[in-house]
Amino acid sequence: MSEAKLLDARGLQKKFGAVVAAEDVNISIASGERVSLIGTNGAGKTTFVNMVTGYLKPDAGSIHFDGRPIDGMSPMSITRMGVNRSFQMPQLFLQLTLEENLLAAVASRFATSLADTQLNDSGEASEIIRRFGLQAHRGMRAASLPGGVRKLLDIAMVVALKPKLLMLDEPTSGVAASEKYGLMDVVIAALKDDQSTVMFIEHDMDIVRRYSDRVIAFAAGRVIADGPPEIALRDPLVRQLVTGEPD
Ligand SMILES: Nc1ncnc2c1ncn2[C@@H]1O[C@H](COP(=O)(O)OP(=O)(O)OP(=O)(O)O)[C@@H](O)[C@H]1O
Ligand SMILES: [Mg+2]
Repeated sequence: MSEAKLLDARGLQKKFGAVVAAEDVNISIASGERVSLIGTNGAGKTTFVNMVTGYLKPDAGSIHFDGRPIDGMSPMSITRMGVNRSFQMPQLFLQLTLEENLLAAVASRFATSLADTQLNDSGEASEIIRRFGLQAHRGMRAASLPGGVRKLLDIAMVVALKPKLLMLDEPTSGVAASEKYGLMDVVIAALKDDQSTVMFIEHDMDIVRRYSDRVIAFAAGRVIADGPPEIALRDPLVRQLVTGEPD
């Protein structure tokens, strides 16, 4: 009896000229897992997320989500299937207020499922604002928000989509050290309520240890380790190529 995988990527390849961004990448994710992707700059982490979310077409390999092939599908179609992501740089409507940005995110979800239209969008936006501790900035234009708050809002907007699979590209980068745990606590709590699965790219190994139950390490486009944090982070190759932690 084999449990159905939420995500199943097989033999992914991607080259940019001479740069190998993905080389025989095989990653399967079961529902409910909390996975972190680690690796130095240029290791291929974002490339993997871009291939899963339809922003990049793999040169070879296959990707299944919820049992259906998704490679070759548009980012929009993949989003509609419940794979939602944030980017390394926040993607906000700069002229709208924080609250309006969240309303737009909530509304975009309902636009894809008309059966849900009687749900109360503004109630939901308010709930997310409260959860993420954004009340003080509610009426401010996104353009004038401090960097850390922009980042929070950006993540709140993707959490508001209630993804089946949430992919976060460096959620804590640019967030003050004292606020990183708070941010991740809120995200993980929201995911638990929505029964979402999360993959997040992270450079901070304290965050990796605390918030993931599985670590996938990349180097030069390849997966060099995949396992629980206490094992993957102890791997000699991961220490040498990724974390620089001594034996
Ligand atoms: N659209 C692109 N065009 C050309 N080269 C690219 C493109 N996207 C990625 N690359 C290259 O592919 C390699 C992997 O990049 P990728 O963005 O996946 O790294 P990353 O692990 O996310 O790194 P970082 O931690 O810096 O975000 C790098 O050498 C990068 O320069
Ligand atoms: Mg990246």
